[in-house]
Amino acid sequence: MTVLNSIEDLRQAARRRVPRAIFDYADRGSYDEVTFNRNLTDLAALQLRQRVMVDVSQQQLTTTILGERWEIPVGIGPTGLTGLFHANGEMLGARAAQAFGVPFCLSTMSICSIEDVRGAVQKPFWFQLYLMRDRSFNQELLDRALAANCSAIMLTVDMPVQGLRRRDPKNGLSIPPKLTLKNLFEVAMRPTWALKVLTGRRRTFGNLEARMKGTGGLKTLSEWIAQQFDPSVTWKDLAWLRERWPRKIIIKGILDAEDARLACEHGVDAMVVSNHGGRQLDGARSTIAALPEVVDAVAGRCEVLFDGGVRSGQDVLRALALGARGCLIGKAFLYALAARGEAGVTLALDIIRKELAVSLALTGANDVGKVTRDILIPR
Ligand code: GLV
Repeated sequence: MTVLNSIEDLRQAARRRVPRAIFDYADRGSYDEVTFNRNLTDLAALQLRQRVMVDVSQQQLTTTILGERWEIPVGIGPTGLTGLFHANGEMLGARAAQAFGVPFCLSTMSICSIEDVRGAVQKPFWFQLYLMRDRSFNQELLDRALAANCSAIMLTVDMPVQGLRRRDPKNGLSIPPKLTLKNLFEVAMRPTWALKVLTGRRRTFGNLEARMKGTGGLKTLSEWIAQQFDPSVTWKDLAWLRERWPRKIIIKGILDAEDARLACEHGVDAMVVSNHGGRQLDGARSTIAALPEVVDAVAGRCEVLFDGGVRSGQDVLRALALGARGCLIGKAFLYALAARGEAGVTLALDIIRKELAVSLALTGANDVGKVTRDILIPR
């Protein structure tokens, strides 16, 4: 058996397991991928401070965020099309996350439905939302999320219009995936994936199916986004959500101190510093570059989460040092799921946990909740 002991190992395994169109959808960013690359290089450029002769025998990796206990400060962020990476992908991801003791956020653009995931887990999960032109559809999704016992809504706000991921149209990414002459070889070389995903119960958007009836179906994700997402959304629409959702609200896609202040003023419980994994505004800052000023602007008024390029426990530690309370993984989660299903997701979380524990100790720190900029070499 091949030894898989890094997120990169899982990425390589995923590449072999799923057809290129699916793999590339997760793996890359928008346009020239400047921001996508910045997320990775800016994180790697932050140097950790090695400290010695500190008692690191008692380590605290657990933390409490939004009133929920996290076994490590890492949750699974919302990712579209997850169930195409592995049959029942969202159900498996949620199960692995809950068994591990970390949150799982289901995307609106998932393959398994809210109810599928509800049936697969015991504890509450989070549901991600985009505001649509037709708010009655959002209302329906909120009702379903409430009925499914979701504890938080994560409102994604960095996609009023979609950035082009150039590979998707070139690869002919379609939903549901289709066997074409062009991808026949790709699919034939991945029989395990093909058998499970192409013959599985769901191959299209589980939460949207009823609404897509009569539209003649939608071939691509970008078609759906252009037709349905509301590009006129402003801060006043957060009040619309607040009136209709009695539980926690997390806003995702904050990359600017001014927006962070506005989000606090509009009463969110948490925010995710995010540039959509470098999949939206190409040329924008990396999330790790934006994090410190967002944390300053928030000034403790809500919890700050972080995503964008998190591939290791060291990355988690870097984000904590700059003020994040926790991190979300998106791409790393999809690699793990595609590579090994539920066990793969558990493995990814375990890899990150071990890296985090060791790196924490070697910086002379003991508690993930108390990490400060002190563990970084000042720039
Ligand atoms: C959806 O959120 C995507 O980034 O494709």
